[in-house]
Amino acid sequence: MAGREEILTATVVDGEEAEEPGLRPRRLADFVGQAELKDHLSIVLEAARGRAQAADHLLFAGPPGLGKTTLAGIVAAEMEVGLRITSGPALSRPGDLAAILTNLEEGEVLFVDEVHRLPRTVEEVLYPAMEDFQLDIVLGQGPSARSIRLDLPRFTLVGATTRTGLITGPLRDRFGLVERLDHYPAADLEAILVRAAGILGVPTTPEGAAEIAGRARGTPRIANRLLRRVRDFAQVRGTGVVDAAAARAGLAAFGVDDLGLDKVDRAILVAVCERFGGGPVGLSTLAISMSEPAETVEDVYEPFLIRQGLLMRTPRGRVATPAAWRRLGLDPPPGAAPASGLFD
Ligand SMILES: Nc1ncnc2c1ncn2[C@@H]1O[C@H](COP(=O)(O)OP(=O)(O)OP(=O)(O)O)[C@@H](O)[C@H]1O
Ligand SMILES: [Mg+2]
Repeated sequence: MAGREEILTATVVDGEEAEEPGLRPRRLADFVGQAELKDHLSIVLEAARGRAQAADHLLFAGPPGLGKTTLAGIVAAEMEVGLRITSGPALSRPGDLAAILTNLEEGEVLFVDEVHRLPRTVEEVLYPAMEDFQLDIVLGQGPSARSIRLDLPRFTLVGATTRTGLITGPLRDRFGLVERLDHYPAADLEAILVRAAGILGVPTTPEGAAEIAGRARGTPRIANRLLRRVRDFAQVRGTGVVDAAAARAGLAAFGVDDLGLDKVDRAILVAVCERFGGGPVGLSTLAISMSEPAETVEDVYEPFLIRQGLLMRTPRGRVATPAAWRRLGLDPPPGAAPASGLFD
């Protein structure tokens, strides 16, 4: 069995936390946007607090960087309980999960990131744990094996997934609240940037924040990352102030264009248009030609290109729209698919 510490801390320190601790909102009131989700969550948490019970199990679904891990931390902080963090792929055996569950304290939050990647055998241990706070353990092997039930402390499971579609029905049904996070409108991203700039102590003008927000692809993580790069740029090549001019020049220097496309996004469009004649090209072929895992192309890059009307998903593969050709400074071939989303 992998060490418990290792299983529990695998995802605690992610890139942005390591680079800039303190950017993650700690309380629900600091969490910008997602008004409906916040409303639902505040009701559920307040009700549980009122009953002095652990909150119901919560599932957060949505694209990377929109705040799922942050929300898990907020749930624990609002409930004033401890937070344990693990992830689906880290729990390779039922015993890994059993070790964590039996060590939980009453009321604690167990955050399972990438919960859609739990092995089936582990998921089955989770069902009675979630529903009845019980753990079935099999002792011994063969004919002499016997199973015992252990009572677990009441806990709140917070699951996160980038793929709701991959969560099995039985698991999904055991969450008391399933919430989807959507991409953030520019106004929310500006508010996030202003907050982050304050924490980082970077002088930022509203125009500078707006310029960055417009290229952040609806994603707080990207907004914060672009802010840090523009901060660096302004410090070294500018006046130290993140204003519109510094944001434009800094983002250009780091290869982020006016839509927020970066090098990889453009490379995907170039591959589809130039290498595969505009498509259709299958996801795995495209991913291999990019030297990226198919899951990364599908979860991280493609959704934005599709939302921007640059790429389409069709039954036969990915197709570049005329807008994609034009974006690369190329003439769309006659009969290039219109960006209608007919086959989405
Ligand atoms: N609503 C928000 N308000 C302010 N900052 C936010 C918000 N949502 C996310 N952030 C910032 O964006 C960063 C990324 O968020 P988080 O790590 O929670 O995303 P995630 O959904 O868990 O992504 P992944 O699927 O990749 O794990 C956080 O460090 C936080 O600073
Ligand atoms: Mg996360």
